[in-house]
Amino acid sequence: NHNQVILAHSGAGKSYLATLMVLRSLFHGIEVMVVDPENEYERLAQAVGGTVVKLGASQGAINPLDLPRTQTEDALTEGALFCHTLCSTLLEGTMPEERAVLDRAILAAYEAKGITSDPRTHARPSPLLGDVVSLLGEQPVERSLAVRLDPFVSGSHKGLFDRPTTVRPEGHLVVLSLRDVPDDPPEVRAAAIMTALDAVWRQVCSGPRRPRVVVVDEAWLLLGEDSAARFLARLAKSARKYWCGLTTVTQDVGDVLSSDLGQAVLTNSATQVLLRQSSQAIPALGQAFQLSEGERSYLQTCDQGRGLFCAGTERAALQVVASPEEHELVTSDPAELQAMETAS
Ligand SMILES: Nc1ncnc2c1ncn2[C@@H]1O[C@H](COP(=O)(O)OP(=O)(O)O)[C@@H](O)[C@H]1O
Ligand SMILES: [Mg+2]
Repeated sequence: NHNQVILAHSGAGKSYLATLMVLRSLFHGIEVMVVDPENEYERLAQAVGGTVVKLGASQGAINPLDLPRTQTEDALTEGALFCHTLCSTLLEGTMPEERAVLDRAILAAYEAKGITSDPRTHARPSPLLGDVVSLLGEQPVERSLAVRLDPFVSGSHKGLFDRPTTVRPEGHLVVLSLRDVPDDPPEVRAAAIMTALDAVWRQVCSGPRRPRVVVVDEAWLLLGEDSAARFLARLAKSARKYWCGLTTVTQDVGDVLSSDLGQAVLTNSATQVLLRQSSQAIPALGQAFQLSEGERSYLQTCDQGRGLFCAGTERAALQVVASPEEHELVTSDPAELQAMETAS
């Protein structure tokens, strides 16, 4: 498979490497989609005529209830499942009895829009999360669910999860920016990332197959939430079937190594890049990758942009080198950006 995990300390050069690989993939005619929580890929997208979708901004809505256009009966099941995952992330978990009533409301919301398991109905406009909430009835379980979901359909987060899709993530480079998504609470951020990733994934599974790369930067935001981590692990497993390589970029070695879901993402990636690590991360990482003493100390002291490239039991030292032209496009150093701005 073409999945890759990039693991390192903050500032070690993970996003720089990921952005450089995005640029080089584009030269090879590979379509790239990036979930970008820190706005590090927007400048590249502008330079190469890519599409930037700003989630949460007035222009950039993605309806999490949109169905994959796979023309299969499963599409509705998939859509309903994603709605469950999203609600579970927003509510920090749901109980079995809550899932049962939610399931009925989700299917009723699709049905009210004329959408059934018949693929011919799947192109119809999808219901919104608010439609699901308003279909919850008067029973205590339903009432309490409706109250807990209310902030996401009528409060300040309405724009994120309860609007019809305005832009499709189509083109040679699509960057889904989370700049306008609030940092707090973390479950809203995780849910917004999942919504972006789901939109990307719908694109990956529908239409003609072609080589694609999907980059999820700051993936620890997903790995820290159980249902979000499960979602990411599922994508890592199915990417290959769609000719897609999933690149997972994260600083939090603990989240990756200590959970089964993080491990699943790791074992479903053919290659791993380890850049400079903090000393706290070394014991767990050393064990997981069976690093020698020399490799352990190298990873704690190496310069920015240097590290180890791992594939199975093979490993090689790596240095990330960009040409001056590439560097200008991929750097996110504020001082350099300022200098470029002044020069132009
Ligand atoms: N290989 C490299 N060569 C030159 N500059 C680099 C390299 N890696 C990182 N940098 C510089 O350091 C900055 C921060 O790196 P970044 O990739 O954003 O770190 P992080 O690991 O936190 O994602 C980059 O914007 C760039 O200016
Ligand atoms: Mg980064």
